[in-house]
Amino acid sequence: METNHNLFFKDAKKMDDLPDGCVDLVVTSPPYRMIETWDELFTQQNSRIGKALSKNDGLLAFEWMHRELDPVWNEVSRVLTKGGLACINIGDATRTINERFSLYPNHSRILTHMQKIGLFALPVILWRKQTNAPNKFMGSGMMPPGAYVTLEHEYVLILRKGNKRIFKSDENRQLRRESAYFWEERNTWFSDVWMDLKGTTQSLYDSRTRARSAAFPFELPYRLITMFSVKGDTVLDPFVGVGTTLYAAMAAGRNSIGYELDTSLEKQIISHLPKIVAFSNNRINQRLKMHGRFVQDRYEQGKTIKYTNKHYQFPVITRQETDLMINGLKAARLSEKNTFQVEYFDEPQSQFVEKREPVSVLRSDPVPMKKSTLRKKKEKNHLQQSLFKP
Ligand SMILES: C[S@@+](CC[C@H](N)C(=O)[O-])C[C@H]1O[C@@H](n2cnc3c(N)ncnc32)[C@H](O)[C@@H]1O
Repeated sequence: METNHNLFFKDAKKMDDLPDGCVDLVVTSPPYRMIETWDELFTQQNSRIGKALSKNDGLLAFEWMHRELDPVWNEVSRVLTKGGLACINIGDATRTINERFSLYPNHSRILTHMQKIGLFALPVILWRKQTNAPNKFMGSGMMPPGAYVTLEHEYVLILRKGNKRIFKSDENRQLRRESAYFWEERNTWFSDVWMDLKGTTQSLYDSRTRARSAAFPFELPYRLITMFSVKGDTVLDPFVGVGTTLYAAMAAGRNSIGYELDTSLEKQIISHLPKIVAFSNNRINQRLKMHGRFVQDRYEQGKTIKYTNKHYQFPVITRQETDLMINGLKAARLSEKNTFQVEYFDEPQSQFVEKREPVSVLRSDPVPMKKSTLRKKKEKNHLQQSLFKP
């Protein structure tokens, strides 16, 4: 398996390089409106923004800022395939203008525009982004009623173009089956509140780079890509920043396309390429190990597991996980200017392949479950679990 990743240093308001319907998933995070860091960039894009700010008209500035963003969302809708999804990470902003503290709800402004242009909104994810900033508590301290609650979450808006995607050919259906995630991953990932993003994976960047670029944690696009696309799909990020989505797509075995206005980021984006093979394989191995631990815990609780994965021969909870196979990365290279190519292993990671009889054979153990003691269950389960010990 191979994937391709293309980077364009162009304005995403006009993604002329992309034909209609060529993208399966969009994962992105635009510059947040009404965050002071971005005032200059927005005012360069539209002088009315600067004028509204200098007149202390926060709501007008907010609206003009979003009107600069709307054309990108129109392009996102055009290039998405029918049934394709857009996942937009966005935070709201709070700001004091003319001595009035107020919320600027970026997430609802974007959601409303997306619905206006015909995309269907799906339930959103809130992800917890704890802040330890000294000004965390704003307003009148301990005296009611003038204190403000702190924004410690961001949104992932999820929108779909048209109806559910249909997988018509046998080949596509097989790719979909191989792209399955684990049952226990589903239980965490498909919750509408993510408390565990921080610390799930090590970071691809040092903390200075992350702070300067407003990069999202690697796990955020990696998880969304794994949840909402299949191997070989094309993922677009119209606001590429330091390239986290592109790298997450490489790790997940998807193709990707990125747009970025700031040409000074080129060097930095490319500089992460030599790390991506080891970094991705580390995350993949972590997922497989965590599955091993999950299975072991279940056995220790005296529970059995019904299915066996065909590639790894390890136990899985549902039939849908029996074809699951996560391709490890073999090599990543820059094939031409701003085009990357990644090569993958087509075989499962050997250290996670269970060398034992499939669980279904062991399940024919004649000891009736009801009469067996917990100790007996544990012994039986012990037989089932040579779960990748590395
Ligand atoms: C919040 S950052 C994205 C960070 C990214 N998610 C990451 O992990 O690195 C937004 C990026 O969008 C870029 N940008 C802003 N307007 C753009 C436009 N119209 N077209 C392309 N890129 C744009 C900015 O230069 C900035 O690098």
